[in-house]
Amino acid sequence: MKKDTIIVLDFGSQYTQLIARRIRELNVYSEIHPFSISLKKIKELAPKGIILSGGPSSIYDKKPPVCDRGIFELGVPVLGICYGMQIVSRFFKGGVKGAAHREYGFAKLSVKKKDKFFTGLKSSETVWMSHGDRLTAMPRGFSVIAKTPNSAFAAIVNKKRGIYAVQFHPEVVHTKNGGKMLKNFAINICGAKRNWTAESYIKATVADIKKQVGKGKVLCGVSGGVDSTVASYLMHKAIGNKLVSVFVNNGVLRLNEEKRVLQMFKKLGMKIRYVDAEKEFLKKLKGVSDPEKKRKIIGNYFIKVFEKTAGSLGKFGFLGQGTLYPDVIESVSVKGPSVTIKSHHNVGGLPKRMKMQLIEPLKFLFKDEVREIGRKLKLPEDVLMRQPFPGPGLAVRILGDITKERLDILRRADDIIVREIKNAGLYHDIWQSFGVLLPVKTVGVMGDKRTYENVVALRAVNSKDGMTAEWVKLPYELLTTISSRIINEVKGVNRVVYDISNKPPGTIEWE
Ligand code: XMP
Repeated sequence: MKKDTIIVLDFGSQYTQLIARRIRELNVYSEIHPFSISLKKIKELAPKGIILSGGPSSIYDKKPPVCDRGIFELGVPVLGICYGMQIVSRFFKGGVKGAAHREYGFAKLSVKKKDKFFTGLKSSETVWMSHGDRLTAMPRGFSVIAKTPNSAFAAIVNKKRGIYAVQFHPEVVHTKNGGKMLKNFAINICGAKRNWTAESYIKATVADIKKQVGKGKVLCGVSGGVDSTVASYLMHKAIGNKLVSVFVNNGVLRLNEEKRVLQMFKKLGMKIRYVDAEKEFLKKLKGVSDPEKKRKIIGNYFIKVFEKTAGSLGKFGFLGQGTLYPDVIESVSVKGPSVTIKSHHNVGGLPKRMKMQLIEPLKFLFKDEVREIGRKLKLPEDVLMRQPFPGPGLAVRILGDITKERLDILRRADDIIVREIKNAGLYHDIWQSFGVLLPVKTVGVMGDKRTYENVVALRAVNSKDGMTAEWVKLPYELLTTISSRIINEVKGVNRVVYDISNKPPGTIEWE
């Protein structure tokens, strides 16, 4: 696809993805690459502009991350942000000093010289700072275009070469008009065309899939969630019945989930193979209460069922997958050895074993872009705005042993929770809301009788990416309705409790 591109070189900032997203919101395509990318590769990509991200390093570290200085000779505009500014300074002999204090938070930016970078902005703007080192002497050939009380060189430019550098972070929302600055850079300074739209993506991707698949056939596992639905629908648009989608009932789905998914695919006119493996999965899970064992069993058996189904459907040269951009970016962030809390990626390993070529129609997209594409494709809003649901499903929401009876209890309770949260108009404002069936029984009284039954825990959290989460302060009225409906309508439950833990230290799922 021929499109104007702004490249973001990643020096390990937590905001790197945000920079690319902000640029894409302008309908300009943006790609993230590690800072160490070769000049040759950059030339091949023929970008309209280059942005150097921030990062945790200091240019005075023993081995600071540096990009090829040749990027400044390419004749395309460059914008250095925070650590990116230090890089500019290093190559153009400016001075950088460790600040006595880290500067973190809002700052008042006074624009000294009206430059293209500040078109449409006021002479005083609120910006967000987060840095240790700062610029203390002007690099050669540069001039100051803005300052803050703490930083005499908050924004600088080398007009002749089209190189900009800023100490603050224009990509974060706290920099109120940061979007405008990035727009000025991408559109006015780099001259990028705004041709990255949902329509153009769909058109180009459909054409690419057609070309790649040729006369071949594609197999795609679907879950009914947003990613696999949008991915498979794009493939369907490209190659029609040469795509076969496979939906496996692993026995731990929500109430009527399989019906919903099958109906949707039928409505969309797509070929789908339903594999009801409920009994086999439940047999494998019988007596297993360790959460990681549950995940492994479900993940491994899914692969088996999928392979067997593929074998029975004929020969497939291609495997479709709903991989998203954040999973394919080669991140440079240096992470320490991290402990596995939960083994999430339970279908990993599928493609290698199956020796099929991968088709990943979403691999350049962020989640919100997938939703937008889905909207353009007229996929049901209900699917596009679905809350995330874990691969191992209700198995990690039933603490202790999984039986058909316990699954049915949780399914009915969970259905009430989702319905009532939707009724209250809160479903789309919440990251995840669901029920958990606890492995304890408590005493209650119903009518004049003593009961000794199950407890359901209600969990509702807000989150941006699932990495951290806050419990949601649901209205008392709604909590009352959910609790009394579950206790009255779901046989086997006599108590509902509300989980008020954040992540960390609690995780979102209980297992
Ligand atoms: P935790 O419980 O780790 O969850 O705070 C973070 C996000 O990941 C989802 N999750 C999973 N997704 N397989 C998945 O596909 C899993 O094994 C799994 N465990 C948790 C969880 O629902 C939340 O969105």
